[in-house]
Amino acid sequence: DAATPSIGIHDLALATSHHSLDLESLADHHGIDPAKFTVGIGQHVMSVLAADEDIVTMAADATARIIARNGTDGIRTLLFATESGIDQSKSAGVYVHSLVGLPPTVRVVELKQACYSATAALQFAVGLIARDPSQKVLVVASDVARYDLGSSGESTQGAAAAAMLVQANPALLAVENPAGVYTEDVMDFWRPNYRSTALVDGKGSIKAYLNAIGGAWQDYADQGGEPFESFASICYHQPFTKMATKAHRHLAVLNGQNPTPVEVAAYLEDTMRYNRLIGNSYTASVYVALASLLDHADDLTGARVGLASYGSGSVAEFFGGVVQPGYRDHLRREEHTAMIDTRVPLDHTAYEVLHKTTLPEDGREYRTTAERAGSFRFVGLNEHRRLYERG
Ligand code: HMG
Repeated sequence: DAATPSIGIHDLALATSHHSLDLESLADHHGIDPAKFTVGIGQHVMSVLAADEDIVTMAADATARIIARNGTDGIRTLLFATESGIDQSKSAGVYVHSLVGLPPTVRVVELKQACYSATAALQFAVGLIARDPSQKVLVVASDVARYDLGSSGESTQGAAAAAMLVQANPALLAVENPAGVYTEDVMDFWRPNYRSTALVDGKGSIKAYLNAIGGAWQDYADQGGEPFESFASICYHQPFTKMATKAHRHLAVLNGQNPTPVEVAAYLEDTMRYNRLIGNSYTASVYVALASLLDHADDLTGARVGLASYGSGSVAEFFGGVVQPGYRDHLRREEHTAMIDTRVPLDHTAYEVLHKTTLPEDGREYRTTAERAGSFRFVGLNEHRRLYERG
């Protein structure tokens, strides 16, 4: 319908942690060939939160930059996607709302379904804007991936936030219909309320991911979605970058193709540049891949890009978007590159200390060590309340 404006992502800003850990040092510590990480799973570095960082500080960092550029006019909703929730009742988004100075006329809610919920948030945002195209929605995904020290998941940790301004006539990506979805009750990865690290059936999770992405693609095709060949690139959820290559090969085979590993790697390369240096960022991961693609690929104006989102447990979704004319003027490549390059590397001992640091559970007064370079800090606890400050 020519009268219906396109709706999609107008601005996309990433944030990550103050620290990083080189996976070579993790391999050294465990006496493993580093190639298992750099080649076998396709990860080089992972982001590690400082003691005074959490999902709120990363989210506030990314959201503040969206607001600095676009203002708050028209924003009526903030959807916060995470599986690293800091409270069972209060949405982490309400802290972000206050830290970045959003007006009270913005509703806030938190969404959860493992790594998938940011995609649900994006689709819900598109629905709200279709009802009233004068409204804008902030979709903020923020997560920290934590596994036990010494577990097979340890090398696939990471942390990042992706904040998106979703609106009519977007500058970056117009979201297309249909979306293909797939839900199946499977215990491939989960984190019970009493644990700060995830439990995972590693090999089973890879199978569950492939099966669900295949199901989402099939649903997309059944609804008359665009042909596989029409996608200039596809951004997959990247728990580790090798997973994207497995997923792409899986969809290619379902579509009667048989690409070589070199062809698959070349097709996906620009989507993997940030993720291999950040690690798994759960809900943010597929949008980190999108930022990486837009920031690095040759001109994509008018090209169709696929988004393949997966959250363990499990829900998957596949949809397409069209890259908008002039999008390059709205990217944040220098900002993203500087953010990744200026992280402070940890040695293995310091990383273990941080990993073992947990917050008191009895609500006692607690102060974090000031480490963070970003504008927002998690200061500590007072009478069971989390305290934040704006730098
Ligand atoms: P593992 O079992 O220790 O590793 O853990 P492996 O032995 O399977 O080796 C991994 C790869 O490295 C293999 O390649 C090896 O051949 C290769 P593949 O067969 O897969 O192509 N390899 C080497 N390559 C070069 N030189 C060497 C070498 N040695 C081995 N020397 C595993 C791997 C991914 C299972 C583990 O890291 C893990 O459990 N990670 C967490 C779970 C995960 O990320 N699952 C992904 C799918 S589920 C998902 O994406 C959802 C999630 O994001 C959560 C959410 O939704 O909320 C996790």
